[in-house]
Amino acid sequence: MKKNELSELLKKMSIKEKVGQLFQPIGFAMMDDPAITGPLLESFKMRQEDVNICGTVLGMAGAKNARKIQQDFIDQHPHKIPLIFMLDVINGFRTIYPIPLAQAASFSPELAEECARMAAREAAASGVHVTFSPMVDLVRDARWGRVMESTGEDVWLSSQFAAAVTKGYQGEDIAAADKLGACVKHFAGYGAPVAGRDYNTVQLTERTLREYYLPAYKAAIDAGAALVMTSFNTIDDIPATGNKKLMRDILREEMRFDGVLISDFNAIGELVNHGLAADLAEAARMACEAGVDIDMMSSAYINNLEKLIEDKVVDESLLDESVMRVLELKNKLGLFENPFKGADEKLESELILCDEHRALARQAAEKSFVLLKNEGQILPLSEDEKIAFVGPYVDNKNILGAWSIMGKAEDAISVQEAAERILSGWDISINQGSPLLDADVKLEGFRGHEDEVYEQAAIDKMLEEAVTAARTADKVVLFLGEHVLQSGEATSRGQLDLPHVQLELLQAVAEVNTNIVVVLFNGRPLDLRMVQAKSAAILEVWMPGVEGGTAIVNTLTGQNEPVGRLPMTFPYSVGQVPIHYDTYSTGRPHRPGQDKDRFVSKYLDIPNKPLYPFGFGLSYTRFEYSEVVLDTDVIAVGSTITAAVRVTNIGDTDGTTLMQLYIHDVAASVARPVKQLKDTQHVRLAKGETQEISFQITEEMLRFNTADGRFDSEAGQFEVYIGDSSETENVATFRLEK
Ligand code: BGC
Repeated sequence: MKKNELSELLKKMSIKEKVGQLFQPIGFAMMDDPAITGPLLESFKMRQEDVNICGTVLGMAGAKNARKIQQDFIDQHPHKIPLIFMLDVINGFRTIYPIPLAQAASFSPELAEECARMAAREAAASGVHVTFSPMVDLVRDARWGRVMESTGEDVWLSSQFAAAVTKGYQGEDIAAADKLGACVKHFAGYGAPVAGRDYNTVQLTERTLREYYLPAYKAAIDAGAALVMTSFNTIDDIPATGNKKLMRDILREEMRFDGVLISDFNAIGELVNHGLAADLAEAARMACEAGVDIDMMSSAYINNLEKLIEDKVVDESLLDESVMRVLELKNKLGLFENPFKGADEKLESELILCDEHRALARQAAEKSFVLLKNEGQILPLSEDEKIAFVGPYVDNKNILGAWSIMGKAEDAISVQEAAERILSGWDISINQGSPLLDADVKLEGFRGHEDEVYEQAAIDKMLEEAVTAARTADKVVLFLGEHVLQSGEATSRGQLDLPHVQLELLQAVAEVNTNIVVVLFNGRPLDLRMVQAKSAAILEVWMPGVEGGTAIVNTLTGQNEPVGRLPMTFPYSVGQVPIHYDTYSTGRPHRPGQDKDRFVSKYLDIPNKPLYPFGFGLSYTRFEYSEVVLDTDVIAVGSTITAAVRVTNIGDTDGTTLMQLYIHDVAASVARPVKQLKDTQHVRLAKGETQEISFQITEEMLRFNTADGRFDSEAGQFEVYIGDSSETENVATFRLEK
């Protein structure tokens, strides 16, 4: 449709019909009967007549259902306006790849882009038009369960992923049959709830918000994200969903976002709970004035906006502005011409879990694993050894991550299945060893869970069998971790350790065999002190997706090299969080290793250093790198410095490392972080090979929010670090002259 046709359409609509376009009820992704009716409407207190004029639907998928619902809907709609079907396609649609935090560990935005492209293809064939992804909330607090949906603690890395994933879903044109509109979320600062408690207040200075939290949203918007979702939290004590400054001044004016702004689930209604709005009518007014276009699930708009406009409390032009954006989105998706878009039953069944998609899911998993420890090169395993596979994750398919809404555990390949297929002829015993969870743990999720409850006698027997197997094995591989529902939305934790029943298993095994490899399944950084002390090797595999088992077995046996690096700091203990590498010096900096120094910024009972820093990860071979060499030590606006190191593979096999470039502004008008990541490069070297790798430093990389409110660089001295983790001390210095 042409712009003037959209305007004509808008003119023909009644106020009620226009409000309908902003109303988003829940759909029926998992239901057999493709009708927007029934008990769910009752449970959410929605009226059929309102649903009949709604503009978009949440949670819909399935080509057959989508086509039928769309057709029925258009037939009865007064203006024949099609619906948009929106769904959380997070780490895959049905072919589930690793959780976003794991993808970030690949440090390969291009891989995440491929995964998003694949997910879009499956979801679009299944009738989905828009995905509520990417989530680009910066995270520094592992107590917050949603860190699994993020791409970690670093502003540069998160921004790279935000742009890449957006492009992956959307391609060049969201009207294409195999593309989705992307909705970047949760604007803004949702990843910084006080004390890591989900939905809690966010307290960020404007400088911190702008410098660290906003850039990744901006990167997705600049990459063309069609929608933005508001966050549940407050920003400067005003909930984001009713925050005019945030939405009108920053998002619309400064960031130049002109797409659709959708509330998070019931977030408009929650303005009342926040204590901002007295009732839902006031909540509707506030959100509308802030420029929130679509009301996801609260009914505040559908029940109140018409009257607010008639009473002249809300100007009709605000409604028109929002409705026009929704109509424009429908137009960009090509729905006026083809309301079914990519929905295609045949293609859907061909694409879902097809070989190509599974292969990509496997590759993504293989690139996301992080080798945290490998003493005595205990890994990779070899065929002539007797190996005991032990633990609740050996034979477990719940490895898709909490947000894999269409994923099915039965699609996943467990470690045991992969081992039976790939390692036939190896001497491997298999024992569960312990339950996954402590008996008193309560889990909540979108679909509930049916984990077995064990009698103590059964637990004792499991443990005894595992210890017996471990005693006679050359090596024990322990598959441990968090339950899939222990990370994700509303899964904040006050402790970050593994379930105690699993730690008891680790202890018991360690008493009879010290050649222990721990393979860890989890959605967040954990307190790994005991695991580190009792094991010779640790392989972090996150929630690896449908091809997890195969990818893990390939990695344990050296068919795949672990190349992942930590996108989030793993704390020494929960007392350190929130923790991130790009911290500030303070006036009394603590010197590494000098934990006994008094009156410096430190703890009495724990070190300052995390257990594993951001950017850290080992390879199966070892690398050495030279000092940083600069081609010049002066930079000016428009010029560049080339910073180089020579990297040598000094181990026994070919391998890949990730070289990381960090910069530190030594003295500036505001305190600057001790280091900030600015670039990375994967370097693959044959055994014994040396290569020079170089990074370009530009003046743009040195810009920040200055004391007088500019985003600019300041003349003076800088340090540049090139190394293989955020703890590198490999440094050179240069000056910026202006
Ligand atoms: C989450 C969003 C999600 C939405 C729709 C909310 O609870 O915060 O991230 O997109 O539900 O499912």
